[in-house]
Amino acid sequence: MIDFRRPITGATRVAAVIGDPVRHSRSPAIHNAGFAFLDLDWRYVALPVPSGRGADAVAAMRLLDLGGLSVTMPHKAAVAGAVDRLTPAAAALGVCNCVYRDGEHLVGDNTDGDGFVRSLQATPGWSPVDAVVAVVGAGGAARSIVEALGRAGAARIVVLNRTEPAAVDAARLAPQAVVGTADDIGRADIVVNTTSVGMAGGPAPDASPVDPERLRDGQRVADIVYSPAQTPLLAAAAERGLPVMGGLPMLVHQAVAQFEHWTGVPAPLDVMLAAASG
Ligand code: ATR
Repeated sequence: MIDFRRPITGATRVAAVIGDPVRHSRSPAIHNAGFAFLDLDWRYVALPVPSGRGADAVAAMRLLDLGGLSVTMPHKAAVAGAVDRLTPAAAALGVCNCVYRDGEHLVGDNTDGDGFVRSLQATPGWSPVDAVVAVVGAGGAARSIVEALGRAGAARIVVLNRTEPAAVDAARLAPQAVVGTADDIGRADIVVNTTSVGMAGGPAPDASPVDPERLRDGQRVADIVYSPAQTPLLAAAAERGLPVMGGLPMLVHQAVAQFEHWTGVPAPLDVMLAAASG
């Protein structure tokens, strides 16, 4: 239970997630837990915004003096086109998942990739520095991860996707990224699934996006899917005795980066992780 000591007053700052659909979002629980724990005079709500109205939502942020925005499907590209400035990550990707204020200006960032990299850096033995990383998938999440792994100093990033043109595009986002095949899985230090395969309600909830036979001793296996907590890929990797990481740490670390943009205060990671776990 979130226990706010501060009442809502005229001074309370409001942050929100915009998307469609958005009512299922875990972000309000994650951010409000952080605000309450630090006794900050902030609240975070979910605002459904229909497709095609993302730029209007940015205008509303200016008008209503909202303290921060999280941005989810289908508004990430429209919002990137409506803010005053983009961070280098958001500019490279052309999409943002977060808007924060810098004086009079609204800045668009993309914290997804850094959220994944931070979750690796926070776990002993998972450093991406000098690592060979196999990124399975080439959609929006994969692109942000490739870009951030490039900045984080991965030795080599191999992008594997069902559809090759998307993989070629994603591999352009980091100088050390290349398009690979399933044979590259066994050569990676870290394997990460970014597709929706294995996700509850996804295209193939019972399937693994990687043939478990291709996994090798010494590898670490991550899945950015967080529902279920143990996907078929992670179950297969754990059965082989490999260290595994689910999607919850990335979800929370990308939120931590947003929280810190808005409030300027270090976010309480453990509190937010507990809130995300429900
Ligand atoms: P997100 O924004 O969450 O990354 P996305 O941009 O729709 O979602 O990307 C979905 C990714 O999952 C893509 O890499 C997609 O592969 P394609 O580019 O070939 O479409 C991948 N994906 C989705 N369903 C899949 C399936 N059944 N098998 C393999 N890959 C799948």
